[in-house]
Formats: sequence, structure tokens, C-alpha cells
Amino acid sequence: MKKLSLAIALLIAPTFAHAWPWSQDMANQVTVKPQESPDPANPGMTPFPKRSMPVAGTTVVVRDIDAAKAMANPVAADDVSVAKGQHLFNIYCTPCHGKSGTGDGLVGEKLIMKPWNLTNSNEMHDWNPKDYPDGYLFGYMSLGGAVMPSYANDLSATERWHVVNYIRKVLQKAPAGDASAQAK
Ligand code: HEC
Repeated sequence: MKKLSLAIALLIAPTFAHAWPWSQDMANQVTVKPQESPDPANPGMTPFPKRSMPVAGTTVVVRDIDAAKAMANPVAADDVSVAKGQHLFNIYCTPCHGKSGTGDGLVGEKLIMKPWNLTNSNEMHDWNPKDYPDGYLFGYMSLGGAVMPSYANDLSATERWHVVNYIRKVLQKAPAGDASAQAK
């Protein structure tokens, strides 16, 4: 009986492994992705037509958390940015991190690994901008964690910086201007 349940567990395991990360299932279909060649015989990017212009909102690539930490926050933490950040935080982050940011969201409660505390009462580490600059928050949202999904597809780079400004100014109560000043 033990052997049978082990065999069943091993059979099911790849299904779960294959579905991970679940938040990207819809994006990872058999389609030609942006900047990909539709012709397998000629891989690589099709050259842009003449007189092409770059448009705002293209992907910002974040290599890893160290590269992210070195990124300067390009969005000033003014009232407009903080308000936009709060709006997005309420939609995307509160289910796990909670309105308070301490990790007491309704979904977060059910996770084996609890969402980490985004406020100054974090027991694991402080939020000293020297070790945890704005780029760290931006990078975590872009890359995701072991349990936390990546938000690189859901939030544009500018939107992610708005969320960073909200976390810094409201949840971590950084003094005015600190959020953008410390990253420069
Ligand atoms: C599905 C639940 C979930 C959602 C939604 C979520 N997180 Fe997380 N978050 C976690 C968990 C769990 C961790 C712990 C680390 C891990 O998973 O690797 C974490 C860790 C973090 C960390 C690292 C904190 C530290 O102390 O170093 C940051 C920053 C963060 N989340 C920001 C956000 C932001 C901003 C959003 C919204 C855009 C968000 N998270 C949405 C679950 C979530």
C-alpha cells in the first residue's frame, strides 16, 4: 500500500511542477512572442521596419535582485505617485501582505510561507535604504520570490515604482522626499 501511494505521488508530482509558476500559464502558450521570429528556420528577431519608433511601456528587464538594487527610482514620490501606488497595492498586494502591509492578508493567512512584513516592524531585517533601497522593492515585485508571484507582467515598470513610493512613504513612513532621494 505504501508503495502504491508513493507511485501515485510520483505520478502526480510532475503535473504540479509543470504548472509552476501558475501565474504565467496564460502567457506561456504556443504563440509567437514579441520580438520572436515566426519562422523556426530563421530564428532571431525580425528587423524592425524602416522609420520604426520605440513606444513607452516596453519591458524593463531586471536580471536579478543585485541588479535591481542598483536601480535608481526614476519616479518622484509625490502625492500623485503615492496615491497611484496605494490604489495598485490595494489590488495586487493586500490579498497576501494585508492593508497594513504586515502580512495579515486573507490569502496570506493560508500560505505555508507567510508573506513578509513590508513595514518598519519587520523582525527579519530593517528597511535601511542602504541595504534595502527602492530598487530592492522594485526587484522583488519584478522577480517574485519562492512563493510570491512576479508582477513584471501585471504592473508596468512605472506602476511598480508607484507601489514602491507608497510602501516607502505610507507603510514605512519614510520622511518626505526620502524615497526618491536615497536611490540617487
Ligand atoms: C500570493 C501572495 C502574495 C502576493 C499577492 C504578494 N506577495 Fe509579496 N511576498 C509573499 C511571500 C510569501 C513573501 C515571502 C518571500 C517569498 O515568497 O519568497 C513575500 C515577500 C515580499 C517582499 C520581500 C520582503 C522582505 O522583507 O525582504 C516584498 C518587497 C514583497 N513581497 C512585495 C510585494 C508587493 C509590492 C506586492 C504587490 C505588488 C506583493 N508582494 C504581492 C507573498 C505575496
